Amino acid sequence: MANCVSHHKIWLLNLLTFFTVLSLSNGRSNAEFPVKAVNLGGWLVTEGWMKPSLFDGIPNKDFLDGTALQFKSVTTGKYLCAESGGGTIIVANRRAASGWETFSLWRLDENTFRFRVFNKQFVGLDGIKVVAVSNISTDSLTFHVVKESGDSNRVRIRASNGYFLQAKTEDVVTADASKVNNSWGNDDPSVFVMTIAGVMHGEFQVTNGYGPTKAPQVMKEHWSTFIVEDDFKFIASSGLNAVRIPIGWWIASDPTPPPPYVGGSLHVLDNAFSWSLKYGLKIILDLHAAPGSQNGFEHSSSRDGSLEWGKTDETIQETVRVIEFLTARYAKSPSLYAVELINEPFSPGVTLETLNKYYKAGYEAVRKHSSSAYVVLSNRLGSADPRELFPLANGFERSVIDVHYYNLFQDVFNAMTVQQNIDFIYNNRSSQLTHLTTSNGPLTFVGEWVAEWQVSGSTKEDYQRFAKAQLDVYGRATFGWAYWALKNVNNHWSLEWMIKNGYINL
Ligand SMILES: *[C@@H]1O[C@H](CO)[C@@H](O)[C@H](O)[C@H]1NC(C)=O
Ligand SMILES: *[C@@H]1O[C@H](CO)[C@@H](O)[C@H](O)[C@H]1NC(C)=O
Ligand SMILES: *[C@@H]1O[C@H](CO)[C@@H](O)[C@H](O)[C@H]1NC(C)=O
Repeated sequence: MANCVSHHKIWLLNLLTFFTVLSLSNGRSNAEFPVKAVNLGGWLVTEGWMKPSLFDGIPNKDFLDGTALQFKSVTTGKYLCAESGGGTIIVANRRAASGWETFSLWRLDENTFRFRVFNKQFVGLDGIKVVAVSNISTDSLTFHVVKESGDSNRVRIRASNGYFLQAKTEDVVTADASKVNNSWGNDDPSVFVMTIAGVMHGEFQVTNGYGPTKAPQVMKEHWSTFIVEDDFKFIASSGLNAVRIPIGWWIASDPTPPPPYVGGSLHVLDNAFSWSLKYGLKIILDLHAAPGSQNGFEHSSSRDGSLEWGKTDETIQETVRVIEFLTARYAKSPSLYAVELINEPFSPGVTLETLNKYYKAGYEAVRKHSSSAYVVLSNRLGSADPRELFPLANGFERSVIDVHYYNLFQDVFNAMTVQQNIDFIYNNRSSQLTHLTTSNGPLTFVGEWVAEWQVSGSTKEDYQRFAKAQLDVYGRATFGWAYWALKNVNNHWSLEWMIKNGYINL
């Protein structure tokens, strides 16, 4: 058996050499070595699902930025709704709640909030009528949510004019109830049943949640304990050769980033560079959070689910400055291997035209300081054409296309068996990757993947086969791959746990 394996290896090596020669003769080389990397996710850009305890100490932690609230009037029996999604009055006449009936929080302090509606206007007043017409947050009212005591989900909403909101009729919602009592009865138009329909746990939420006094302390503690020098040692000794480090745009204005962000993360990134050097690892810098958010997810530090990046030229220019700052700072480090200009911009919110414009400027910003760093272009989430960046990337030197392959987040995976998941890797992912891999185009990078699926009750051996299938297929990516992530409370999402427990062997 051992003999057979080593035979196989030699054969593979020959084949690899052959392909390297072949691709060199086509004028494009593979990356110097295929990257076998792990994402240091949840470190310098917070993702609460990876480490929920980070949020434990936040006062009133159910009310963070981006929390989606729905309110059903007890007198009309119907939901509050921004008529037309916003731009006019608030009514109390909807039988079911979805987008227009959802109010997204902006947290000012632990008890004071603004509400943002579907079309992005903020809730305010026109006389005593409650409306959602202003795009400017500071023009809006602030609100306190007063809960009935105990486990009740009944609330009253007190506006900053001192009055409580009431649903006078289905079509008339006003902020003019001055006297309320303790009965919280079904005949009281100032009483609403509140539902939390969605939550966000990103960098904005954690820093704004703790506030300016506690957040610096909490984040420094997190940065200095979540990933430490020993982790780099472990990574290097596990057969990996690189790390992909998600960072946020605010790192470039360290030590005084705009609030609520907290200074000190740049020093932590400096540490990552010195540890990488010490243990012979390469670094792929990955701008995971761009100003305004490029996808509306918590992992790009969206405040309330909005996608604002690219809507103005200013956000693009600011992002280019971040890329230039980081490249200039680390260009001389032998560990800087690649700069990923932005992670997972979302289509259609980010248009191809906007993205091309930014990628061109971002590429030039990298090249001002480094001729050797690879420039990684992330494909747009939600776009049907995985080659849409090729025309641009073909004009770049040392460019890479990043694709993220998860057997998750799409209905098609919900009913798949273990074997179907594995077949999907060998058939579908394999042909997707082949389609992307061209002799004269950009290199290919599976920058995120995980040995996790929708199958429940699977065995260790199932996971081993699934991981191996992905290593086999993603190992053919010409730039390489990166597992998401190194650490995670969800075991299969932690490469450290997977390696230490024998699920993955590199
Ligand atoms: C608010 O923003 C939207 C979308 O950008 C715009 O169409 C609308 O005119 C703005 N409204 C006001 C009152 O400025
Ligand atoms: C409380 O206020 C509501 C609404 O104004 C009223 O209908 C109800 O009778 C009041 N209950 C008590 C006990 O005063
Ligand atoms: C996977 O590929 C097979 C064969 O090309 C195709 O029939 C199938 O629809 C693909 N599955 C999904 C979920 O895309």
